[in-house]
Amino acid sequence: LTVTGLEALLGDIGLQTPIPHFAEADVLNKPRDIARSYFADILSSLVGGDPANAYNSIQWPSNIDNGDLAAILPKLSHGADYHALALDLITKFPECPLFIRRPFEEGMHLRMFYQPRTLPRLVLSYINDRKQSYGRDASLGLHHLTSPESGRKRLVIEFSSPNIDSEFQAKHLRSTILGASIASIYGSMGWDVTKINYLGDWGKPLGLLGAGWEKFEPEGQFQADPLRHLFDVYHKTYERFEPEQAAYKKARDEGKDPAELETQELFAERNAFFKRMEDGEEKALAFWKRVREINIDSYNQLYSRLNISFDEYSGESQVSQETMAEVEDILKNKGICEADGPSWIIDLKKFTKKAGREIIRDRTGSSTYMLRDLAAVLDRDRKYSFDKMIYVVATDNKDHFSRLFKILELMDLPDLAGKLEYVSFSGVSQMSKKLGRGHTPDDILDQCQAAMRTSLKENPEKATLLGSTEETVASVGTTALLAQELSARRANDHAFDISHMTSFEHGTGPDLQYWYARLCSVLKTAPDPVELSDEDFASLREDGVTNVLRLLATYPEITNSTYRNLEPVTVMAYLASVTDHLSSCFEGIEESDGITPVQATLFEATRTVLENGMKLVGINPAIH
Ligand code: ARG
Repeated sequence: LTVTGLEALLGDIGLQTPIPHFAEADVLNKPRDIARSYFADILSSLVGGDPANAYNSIQWPSNIDNGDLAAILPKLSHGADYHALALDLITKFPECPLFIRRPFEEGMHLRMFYQPRTLPRLVLSYINDRKQSYGRDASLGLHHLTSPESGRKRLVIEFSSPNIDSEFQAKHLRSTILGASIASIYGSMGWDVTKINYLGDWGKPLGLLGAGWEKFEPEGQFQADPLRHLFDVYHKTYERFEPEQAAYKKARDEGKDPAELETQELFAERNAFFKRMEDGEEKALAFWKRVREINIDSYNQLYSRLNISFDEYSGESQVSQETMAEVEDILKNKGICEADGPSWIIDLKKFTKKAGREIIRDRTGSSTYMLRDLAAVLDRDRKYSFDKMIYVVATDNKDHFSRLFKILELMDLPDLAGKLEYVSFSGVSQMSKKLGRGHTPDDILDQCQAAMRTSLKENPEKATLLGSTEETVASVGTTALLAQELSARRANDHAFDISHMTSFEHGTGPDLQYWYARLCSVLKTAPDPVELSDEDFASLREDGVTNVLRLLATYPEITNSTYRNLEPVTVMAYLASVTDHLSSCFEGIEESDGITPVQATLFEATRTVLENGMKLVGINPAIH
């Protein structure tokens, strides 16, 4: 689609004047900007003044019941008598093929609807021309918006990042799904995206697991189901460790020095094991390596079932020793960190409003979570020279990230700190409670898919359309989970409600797949395409159909706001509103009789938008 092509299309609906030019309008990506440009042009010719001001006074109503465009009267003309102004505009409004005959007044707004007669030709031709690229704006990822030669911006995005010492938790699942979705959104907006999985595969927790393993598995043999066996040992070890931890906390809270306690029992064994790992002792490393491999195998199975992949499997263990030493030097030379007995710490109250101690090296000389994260930033910056790096991590890491960014600033790396973004979400979920202790990543999807198999049996008419093969069960079952995770705002807790997610209630993943399948199925009865007349398009003037068309026209704004707010729920809620209006498009259609060419155009465009939206957030259509 070019501006010339667009103007020819507008000529077909009786609009002969060239598209009025506005700097902010993006008529080749957003069909609504066409209407906005003409509306602004008409308004500014009626009220006078700067046309750009008229353009900026126009808003999109948040709900299609409130019209398609709304000019805010006080913005359009400051200090006027708004009611008189509205009346005047309504009376003088010229006929325009894009709009109904006259706008109407409501509060401070002058509202306008599209003309149902011309809407179908414009919207359907537009979408069926743009196809997969409808809703994508590849220029957003360019260094200079208008020049492709400037090259693409690079995003590094870190997500999933489970800990290899224990179960794959709900927060990791959510990070995985949200992260993959955000990566896909950036990719579709033209960014060059690198996806990193930063495993929690180093540090004291592994020391504790190692110590527990030597205690409870003196033979050191893994059993048939090594992962469950490992989690077993993990839980046994924690049962022993918890009272020690509680005593430690109690001592600290009572103002005593708890250091002494760290030299006893599991505390001491944990530290010793981790020290052996840091010193590269063979036996300790062999255990660690095995644990890492078993877990990575199981993660990979989960990721592939979810259709998610990474460009790099990194992890806390992979951060370079040299970079950590470099970070430490900077911190010491700039007087940011100081010795505290044998440890090195940052006394945060010297630099921030909040008090606290951030340990950089502990009393045994071991690196810490923070030191590894600081060094990882430098490593990644050198490796990828990113323009932006996003961390998709639960809110339990909130303080950690604000400290991390603050310390980078103190290190005189404000440019680097400014490129980092922490995308947080609530880690609270019913998942672990529902799956029980010791669950493996596979259990998560196994349960969703088992419930999906039942749900398809209970809904035979849906199953006829979707199929009930194991392949369908797997792909719709996966969609059920993805859709549920993506349909909550990030800050909200999630229910992990398997029976609801696998149901065909409005807005669930299976419901979305059902509507998609229904479109595919009806399109099979479509005749060969023909040149469509005004009369053909005029048959799409039913209210229900008009509402679907009005929604389809808003899709590019939906993807744009999702790109800005990083809330995939924006897309999910939109797709649910499209399917909500869709049944009216099927009224009066006997699928066995086949559909008309113009109906085929409508269903094709709708299918495109559903498919683009699903793929944008990481859901694959079950039917191809
Ligand atoms: N493994 C951590 C956890 O489970 C998340 C890692 C977050 N990323 C980071 N760079 N610190 O809480």
